[in-house]
Amino acid sequence: MLIIFLGAPGSGKGTISEKLVKSHNFKHISTGDIFRKMIKSKTPLGNKLKNLIEEGNLVDDETTWEVAKETLENSDLKKEKLILDGYPRNIFQAKLLRKYLESINFKNVKIIYYNVSDKEILERLSGRRMCPICGKSYHLKFVKPKVKGICDDDGGELYQRKDDMNVQVRIDAYKEVTEPLIDFYKKEKKLIIIDAEMNIEDIVKKTLEVTS
Ligand code: AP5
Repeated sequence: MLIIFLGAPGSGKGTISEKLVKSHNFKHISTGDIFRKMIKSKTPLGNKLKNLIEEGNLVDDETTWEVAKETLENSDLKKEKLILDGYPRNIFQAKLLRKYLESINFKNVKIIYYNVSDKEILERLSGRRMCPICGKSYHLKFVKPKVKGICDDDGGELYQRKDDMNVQVRIDAYKEVTEPLIDFYKKEKKLIIIDAEMNIEDIVKKTLEVTS
């Protein structure tokens, strides 16, 4: 099964994925995580994308499709429950993905939209802190580590993502190019909407229900 996670920056896509991978055997691919790894390991593409991503802008469609396609080709969609987080992010990308899935005759796709208000997004992203080792995200108020500033799982020293200092740019990009996907998938009668302002455990439970 392919499960597409749609939602604004900070809607909780990464947090929900982390729980589903840990306890329910899902596989999680985030285009954002892949780009951040490229930046960290200073690959030529990572160096090229660094400023663009940290300033909150979107990566071009060609590069993103290369990353998404490679992910899909290396996955066994018939056996795995693969979460695709961060792709597609505009109508063009959605059409590319649809064409690819048609070409391999794959139909078992769920599209989940995690709905949150702008106010909540701002609060979540300004308080988000990340582990540099495992990539787990925490929040200063909502998801605190056991020891302040330290990852529960591996002792990594938590840091703030640079693009979390450019939240407004990301929200604007989201509203302009990603939000139209909601109508796109609604018209295809494929959209599952989940209230992402509930507590994390309830959101995970709801996600499990709709993907069972
Ligand atoms: P990406 O990494 O995908 O960033 P994003 O979509 O902005 O999503 P986030 O990771 O910010 O948020 P999230 O929804 O995962 O929230 P989280 O779970 O951490 O992309 C980064 C960049 O890569 C893009 O800006 C772009 O440049 C590029 N890119 C990637 N894909 C692309 C594409 N297809 N096309 C073009 N460019 C692309 O939660 C946020 C915080 O809230 C955390 O602190 C968490 O602890 C807390 N929290 C989560 N859920 C709850 C809850 N229910 N209650 C309370 N707190 C909660």
